[in-house]
Amino acid sequence: MPDDVETIKNEALKELESIGEVKRLDEWRVAYLGRSGRLTAVLRTLGALPLEERRALGQRANEAKTALEEALAQREGVIREQEMAQSVAAGRIDVTLPGRSAPLGRLHPSTQMVREICDAFVTMGFQVVEGPEVEWDYYNFEALNIPKDHPARDMWDTLWITPPSESERPMLLRTHTSPMQVRVMEKTRPPVRVVVPGKCYRYEATDATHESQFYQIEGLAVDENITFADLKGTLYQFAQRIFGQGRKVRFRCDYFPFVEPGVDMSIDCFFCEGSGCRICKDSGWIEIMGAGMVHPNVLRKVGYDPEVYTGFAFGMGPERIAMLKYGIDDIRLFYANDLRFLRQF
Ligand code: PHE
Repeated sequence: MPDDVETIKNEALKELESIGEVKRLDEWRVAYLGRSGRLTAVLRTLGALPLEERRALGQRANEAKTALEEALAQREGVIREQEMAQSVAAGRIDVTLPGRSAPLGRLHPSTQMVREICDAFVTMGFQVVEGPEVEWDYYNFEALNIPKDHPARDMWDTLWITPPSESERPMLLRTHTSPMQVRVMEKTRPPVRVVVPGKCYRYEATDATHESQFYQIEGLAVDENITFADLKGTLYQFAQRIFGQGRKVRFRCDYFPFVEPGVDMSIDCFFCEGSGCRICKDSGWIEIMGAGMVHPNVLRKVGYDPEVYTGFAFGMGPERIAMLKYGIDDIRLFYANDLRFLRQF
């Protein structure tokens, strides 16, 4: 015998009040109004009743069904409104909250300096090219007028991959970017105007001014009628651009086997304006690069006729230049990966 209609209705309404989620409303509907729901069960018994009873009970049951359906619709409306209010409250944006900054990467100071220096030459018509860090003895030494057993090899402490004692074709980590002079000239005919940034390696005990890895930037210009005046003019412009207008430059004789004449270039000390300080070691001058006119032997090696073509070359260390520019006193900081240092650039 199914429960009394009033009891079912009251229990259903009471239960409905306690429901707080839309999901559960459906369970409730199934329990009372579904195919095997409690109220449906009452309606199913009607057929077996005598006419009078059937009419009375049928009417009450149908009224109850309508009441429950209306209550359900109303409850659903209330719950949906609550849920909406809650989700709005939860997702509310506090526009006064300070923003969270996304951590930003930055370029390494060496990279920044390399780019700045290359840019200075690009504006003067030079092209930027790059070459291998693992190099043949031929390019690093031989073709640069530094034959085997030449005492000048001592100028570069070399990290060998296959040393000359073990190989017909010795291989090494390039000790300077000058091998790219040869590679570029082998591949192109004059006019040549290139700058070559790149990593170099030396077998060296490190200290505040020496690292076993460092950048160099090589420069090379070859054409008819290039003179030492072109070298001076180009490097003078470069110095103005990197160290400021009005910088003086000085060239003095120096020796590199692949240039003749060879020079080193200094700028007047921008710390003490030439009066003498710790940075310029009281000389008033700071050396910033090596340079010179490309040696005829080097031109011959790449098939350029030294009677027709002349050129100048230069090489500098961007880390050393950054150290001067920013007052950094230890080159090892560039490769120590200390964020306190790196974040300053
Ligand atoms: N390669 C030389 C060095 O590493 C620098 C240099 C380059 C000098 C070009 C003259 C011309 O010391």
